[in-house]
Order: sequence, then structure tokens, then C-alpha cells
Amino acid sequence: MSDPTIIRFDRVTQRYDDQTTVLDNVSFEIRRGKFYTLLGPSGCGKTTILRLIAGFLQPTEGSISFNGKLINQVPANKRQVNTVFQDYALFPHLNVFENVAFGLRVKKMKNEDITRNVKEALRFVNLDGYESREITEMSGGQRQRVAIARAIVNEPEILLLDEPLSALDLKLRTEMQYELRELQRRLGITFIFVTHDQEEALAMSDEIFVLDKGRIQQSGTPTDIYDEPINRFVADFIGESNIVGGRMIRDYLVEFNGRRFECVDGGFRPNEEVEIVIRPEDLEITAADQGKVKVRVDSQLFRGVHYEISCYDDGGSEWLVHSTKKAAVGGEIGLQFDPGAIHVMRFGETEEEYDKRLAAYQADRDGD
Ligand SMILES: Nc1ncnc2c1ncn2[C@@H]1O[C@H](COP(=O)(O)OP(=O)(O)OP(=O)(O)O)[C@@H](O)[C@H]1O
Ligand SMILES: [Mg+2]
Repeated sequence: MSDPTIIRFDRVTQRYDDQTTVLDNVSFEIRRGKFYTLLGPSGCGKTTILRLIAGFLQPTEGSISFNGKLINQVPANKRQVNTVFQDYALFPHLNVFENVAFGLRVKKMKNEDITRNVKEALRFVNLDGYESREITEMSGGQRQRVAIARAIVNEPEILLLDEPLSALDLKLRTEMQYELRELQRRLGITFIFVTHDQEEALAMSDEIFVLDKGRIQQSGTPTDIYDEPINRFVADFIGESNIVGGRMIRDYLVEFNGRRFECVDGGFRPNEEVEIVIRPEDLEITAADQGKVKVRVDSQLFRGVHYEISCYDDGGSEWLVHSTKKAAVGGEIGLQFDPGAIHVMRFGETEEEYDKRLAAYQADRDGD
């Protein structure tokens, strides 16, 4: 059986000058044929990771391997990788056909092969019949597809996409999300997609790497990351959450808001200070004295499928609730939740705990 790992980063650190560490000891694996997303706020290092994979940059420390071979020193044009840039970088003076054919002409491919390959790539992105159109006569979404055709015509093993949808309006963007996902399935090549839009990441990916400050904060499937955020940053960045401080009494018993609650998490130090996440949709409204937390309703918005209700507890912490039930603004209500709705996160993860967690994650993957 061939190794499914196509790219491996092993303790990669990137510094652009002597002071700033842009990537800090980053390790991860990319598996063949899957759709990956790098998700994180501006400046967290997403494009830097793509540039390292593409070979436009060499890591300051650590190693990068491709199909099991170290590629730190392999130049960009010798890598089986193509990039779709945010601004598409198409040639405005060339028509659609010539834009897609450009790389093949540079490689001195025979004319008839060029024609066949370009037509096939255009067919893949649903641009049959657009060969002689000028780039300037194409819409944003069509240009985006030309850029993808130009990348896949080289038959890369990996396609890197750096925020390719950010210039599109919401409707087109949603359409292109489906198209890209579908294209990845049909082509069967590995996509590494960059976005700072969490909904986009959740909708499209097999696996997401959440980045902040040059570190992978968490990696996993969209459901892993949504349901089990590892820390406050991830919980806050992915979806809406209620985050409160607490203490882990022992495995499966946590204290917050002055009470102890059963939960499903273990593996913490006794009495470890933790943070608790409860998603707004996991809270159920009850009569004031029947819930686990008593709150006063501050405001309420109707969001189409649910009410978004903002409440405050006695300690002054805000609780956000998504409910199909309406609440009375100004009145008291109770909030009920299951043990499984409580997600316990480490508050201050030590360096060793971070390393241990990454190693456990790696071992888990390897055992798949
Ligand atoms: N050539 C460079 N020289 C010095 N610093 C750089 C260089 N390129 C990027 N940086 C810095 O490295 C950090 C990470 O940049 P990067 O482009 O990887 O971020 P990003 O996650 O892609 O952000 P965005 O979402 O804004 O595109 C930023 O602080 C940026 O200013
Ligand atoms: Mg970027």
C-alpha cells in the first residue's frame, strides 16, 4: 500500500528577518486526494505555508517532505504543485485558451497535445466554448475558473488556492464553493485552500488547520473543530460560543458559575483552571428555576430559523442562546444543557502539553 502522506512539515519555523517568527515549530501532514483548508486571521502565516509548499520560500528551520523525500532545496519549478493566487494573475492580453496554454507552451509541448489538454481543462471547469474569449470579457467567477484551468492543465499533484473566492460576491462565492469541492472530488488531487472565512472552511474541507500567531492551534475535520474546540481562540474563531472560566474538579466533573456539572471530558490536572465552551444552539430555555444557569434576557433578534437571545447571569457574564422558542425581554429564564454540550478547554497549555497533543494527534492519524 502506498503511503497516503503527500506533504509533511516537520518542526518548520519561518523567520523573515531575525526578529519576527512567522511560523513557529509547525508540524502537519497532508494526505493524498483530500481537501485541506488553512484557516486563520490575517497575518497568521497561511500564505507563508503555501509559499513553503510551492517552493517560493525555504524554511529557516525544520524539514518539508513531498512523497517521503526531503524537498527543502527543490526549486519551485521542479515541484508537482500549482498555485491559484488571490488575484488570479491572468494575462489580460491573452484570450482564455492562451492563458490556460501558457505553461504548456513554455514546456514546449506539441500543439495538438496543448489543444487537447487545454480543452479538457476548460471542460473540467465548465468553460467549454469560451476558448477565444478575451479575459477582460469574463466575469469574476469565470476568471476564477480560468485560473483554476490554468493550474490543473499542468496535472499537479497538489493545487494550492490562496483565498481564491474573496473577490466574489456572496452568491457567486457560495456557487464556487460547491464547484471547487466538486472539482476536487472529480480530479482526485490534493487541494490546499486558504481562507479566513470559517463558514467556508467548515463547508468545504475534509480537514481544517486552524492557525493563529504562526502556530497550528487545532487540526481536524470540520465537525471535530466545531464540536471540540481546543482553546478559546478556536472556539471564538469558529462559530458563536459562550465561553466561561471554570475548574476541572476531576475527570468528568467541572465547576463553573459556582456549581459543579457532569461533563464528558477527562485528562486534565486535578483542579486545573479551564475554560468552558457551550454553543448557543446547545442551550435550551426552561423556567427560571429549572435550568442549570439562571439568566435575565437582555435582547432578542429573529434570525429566520431561530431566535438569537442575549442574556446575562448574576455574575454579569453574557449567554447567547439560539432557540426556536421566544423569550420575554427583561424576564428571567433558566438555561438547560446536557453534559455533552459542555466542552472543556485548556486555559494555559504548556509547551510540553502542546507537544504532547500534537504527538497524540499525529499517532492517531498514523493509526487510521
Ligand atoms: N516577505 C516578507 N518579509 C517580512 N515579513 C513578511 C513577508 N511576508 C509576510 N510577512 C509577515 O509574515 C506574517 C505572515 O504573513 P502571511 O502572508 O503568511 O499571512 P496570511 O495568514 O496569509 O495573512 P492574510 O490573511 O492577510 O493574507 C505577517 O505578519 C506578514 O507581515
Ligand atoms: Mg495571505
